[in-house]
Amino acid sequence: MSDQSLLEVFFEEGLITDVLNVVKSGKEATVYCCQAHPSTETEFLAAKVYRSRQNRSFQNDAIYQAGRVILDKRLQRAFNKKTRKGREVQFTSWIEHEFQTLNLLYAAGADVPKPFACADSAILMEYVGDEQQPAPILNKVLLTPTEAELLFHQLLSNVELWLACDRIHGDLSPFNILYWQGSVKIIDFPQSVDPHLNPNAFSLLAQDLENLCKYWAKYGVQANSLEIAEELWRRFLRAEL
Ligand SMILES: Nc1ncnc2c1ncn2[C@@H]1O[C@H](COP(=O)(O)OP(=O)(O)OP(=O)(O)O)[C@@H](O)[C@H]1O
Ligand SMILES: [Mg+2]
Repeated sequence: MSDQSLLEVFFEEGLITDVLNVVKSGKEATVYCCQAHPSTETEFLAAKVYRSRQNRSFQNDAIYQAGRVILDKRLQRAFNKKTRKGREVQFTSWIEHEFQTLNLLYAAGADVPKPFACADSAILMEYVGDEQQPAPILNKVLLTPTEAELLFHQLLSNVELWLACDRIHGDLSPFNILYWQGSVKIIDFPQSVDPHLNPNAFSLLAQDLENLCKYWAKYGVQANSLEIAEELWRRFLRAEL
């Protein structure tokens, strides 16, 4: 099925009126800039269309999927046996999981794009950017020292807020942070985990923070990622977040 037809449902739901251009074709998805329907009270929307399931390796999936709950017993068996049906369940669950996580975090006030809708293979969300250009990823911009300091704290407060909402990003890096008008929006949450359920949660949190600290070290921001991770984790375990 073409990406265009996968977006059909968003036309039918009266959310978009046109698909304007490809923003980026990434490793797991292609993101399109769409003309938003006036009823959405916004000009553009971003549609993230996932690639077919073959492109994700089961080995990596295991780290993130650990502890996820599938309520339907028959589907859970198919999932465990890695049958074709099981793979479909898994593919859908990545997309739904990203959408649910965006809903949860956006409602809590996190700096993530506002989610609008979810279909079988696609998510529709707030578009970060304007008619000239989409927001660049953080790796492509040069920050002033003051801005760098501010944005580092914005990121740390987000990581803390997500943890308070029972979420760890799990793939946090400058590649998944969009820079727009002096602020940031964090994207790409399919692999995010619930720290109450996932046995790899602490190491994923520590890795996310290490990626942030490495990037900000280039701007002279000194921070010990492991200390930050341990402190956050302690507070999480004591329900003090
Ligand atoms: N809401 C958005 N507004 C503007 N651009 C976006 C939005 N969401 C994603 N993008 C663009 O699309 C790219 C891919 O999105 P995302 O990171 O969610 O998918 P991915 O498959 O993991 O891609 P990658 O392999 O590049 O990380 C981003 O790097 C960004 O440039
Ligand atoms: Mg990405």
